[in-house]
Amino acid sequence: MNNSQITFVGAGNMAGAIISGLLKNGVDAKSITAAEPSVERLESLSKQYGIRHEVDNVSAIKHADVVVLSVKPQILQSVCEGIRDALPKGVLVISIAAGVEMSSIEEWLGDDVALVRCMPNTPAQVLSGASGLYANALVEWAQKEVAYALFSAIGVCQWVDSEELLHAVTALSGSGPAYIFLVIDAMEKAAKKQGIDEKSARLLAAQTVMGAAQMVLSGDVPPEQLKRNVMSPGGTTERAIQVLEARGLPELFDEAMTAANQRSVELAELLKG
Ligand SMILES: NC(=O)c1ccc[n+]([C@@H]2O[C@H](COP(=O)([O-])OP(=O)(O)OC[C@H]3O[C@@H](n4cnc5c(N)ncnc54)[C@H](OP(=O)(O)O)[C@@H]3O)[C@@H](O)[C@H]2O)c1
Repeated sequence: MNNSQITFVGAGNMAGAIISGLLKNGVDAKSITAAEPSVERLESLSKQYGIRHEVDNVSAIKHADVVVLSVKPQILQSVCEGIRDALPKGVLVISIAAGVEMSSIEEWLGDDVALVRCMPNTPAQVLSGASGLYANALVEWAQKEVAYALFSAIGVCQWVDSEELLHAVTALSGSGPAYIFLVIDAMEKAAKKQGIDEKSARLLAAQTVMGAAQMVLSGDVPPEQLKRNVMSPGGTTERAIQVLEARGLPELFDEAMTAANQRSVELAELLKG
């Protein structure tokens, strides 16, 4: 990836997070260009990271090997139509715009473009993101490796076999941080009721979520088994899990994620216009 010229069209939160991750992973700042209308934002990014910047999207993509479309979904069509005739030959285009389908982007850019769709999530901002990736048939193996490296710089990423599955990724890791914020908040409030001060409760709850996640990620033991391992018969954890399961927590997650998936399908329909 170090030899690739990468241009971000749209230099907001998500682009900033990816740029920061790339630089931390040793990518040369001079191989990164950011483009967007706000000169102030561009100058601040350049000052912070030493990357190149351009106000004009067309000039910014002139020498790009990879173009990351990181604007809001609502303006993606006009941005694509604006750069369509200036895309360099053999370029890889990556869209991170939530819900905008490949067929729409191909219509706006031309159907001869190698295109990857990515669904990142907000923890990308602290380099702990989880992204789902899907590529069209024109993306070559080496380009897939570049896309994978790009999103690995801000966390973990997984390829999915069909574009349809990006709705499921949206329901899982896209919306997932909010599910966990809810859990941390609920644990914090319950601990406060039991007398722990807010700061300590938040620290212990958040670290518990992170520690449990690390245990899942660092071994091959399924979470169901890890749960059973800490439930000694007659103990405190068993008593708590009995309450959560009797009140239907697993079924609630299923219901919530089905609702998120359905909403993602609906939003994609709306974005088609
Ligand atoms: N944030 C997340 O956690 C997250 C998660 C999953 C997917 N995404 C996707 O990531 C994309 C970017 O999200 P974000 O949170 O980074 O949004 P953002 O902070 O609003 O960034 C978008 C940037 O694009 C700029 N822009 C506006 N018009 C432009 C144009 N014509 N050409 C070039 N740049 C232009 C905006 O500038 P102005 O502010 O001056 O308009 C803004 O700086 C979205 O499509 C979103 O669906 C985000």
